Amino acid sequence: MIKKAIIPAAGFGTRFLPATKAQPKEMLPIIDTPVIQYVVQEAVDSGIEDILIISGKGKRSIEDHFDRNYELESRILEKEDEALYNQLKHIENMANIHYIRQKELNGLGDAIYHARFHCGNEPFAVLLGDTIINSAIPVTQQMIDAYEQYRQIVIAVETVPHDKVNRYGIVGGKKLSEKLIQITEMVEKPEIDKAPSNYAIAGRYILTPEIFSALEKTPRGKGNEIQLTDALRILLKQQDITATIIEGKRYDIGNKLDFLKTTVEFALKRKEFAAPFAEFLKEIVKGL
Ligand code: G1P
Repeated sequence: MIKKAIIPAAGFGTRFLPATKAQPKEMLPIIDTPVIQYVVQEAVDSGIEDILIISGKGKRSIEDHFDRNYELESRILEKEDEALYNQLKHIENMANIHYIRQKELNGLGDAIYHARFHCGNEPFAVLLGDTIINSAIPVTQQMIDAYEQYRQIVIAVETVPHDKVNRYGIVGGKKLSEKLIQITEMVEKPEIDKAPSNYAIAGRYILTPEIFSALEKTPRGKGNEIQLTDALRILLKQQDITATIIEGKRYDIGNKLDFLKTTVEFALKRKEFAAPFAEFLKEIVKGL
């Protein structure tokens, strides 16, 4: 059973400056909920009980968000807003959340290496803190199911347009079924004409503890950072790794255009905004 998850959330968020100069990108709200809360909810909905957030400089508001705020709670109780009160209680009781700080930003691989003592000898899930995936069955649950079946590392992938492969980790391999790929190649942000496929790593992984010794052997790669993809490639020489093609829609919140699209889509799904917001959008579209 997989009960632990790691959420790397230490990155600078340079793609979202200036908003991320003094606040974490993971705390940017989609309507009224910070991105990282959606990510924690996906983990919890997949049966995860224990979460380690890899935090860093300027990220303290993430801890505050999942902490209890007595003063605010009593204010809301005075106003007798039970729904809002319950929402606050839900956030502080979502999971056992632990934090460790990545003092230097040496890449995703290095962030994951910070979790070695926390994870010990157990397999664990990794959910990138700036990516929301909307799906009927939470993607982490889909991957845990694949892990339970194959007992090997599982990586979530999705197809991306060929001209965008240089933005992602890309895997190549043999299709085992409609949803599963036996990985034979992995490369972090390849040049467009050198990518083994257009299956991009989608920000969710089920890893086993061997990843930590692979990370110790991983030299700096793309962007002069320790890349998780490179460590996985080292492991690929010793063990089979599976990719699951995700059933769901991925939103990369670190990207401004995706952030805007996500906000619009999520607003149209919210009961209280759906009708008036749709009206507003129709008016806007008329004027285009
Ligand atoms: C990271 C991973 C990459 C993956 C991507 C998904 O890159 O290194 O393999 O495809 O997340 O969002 P980053 O976007 O942090 O540069």
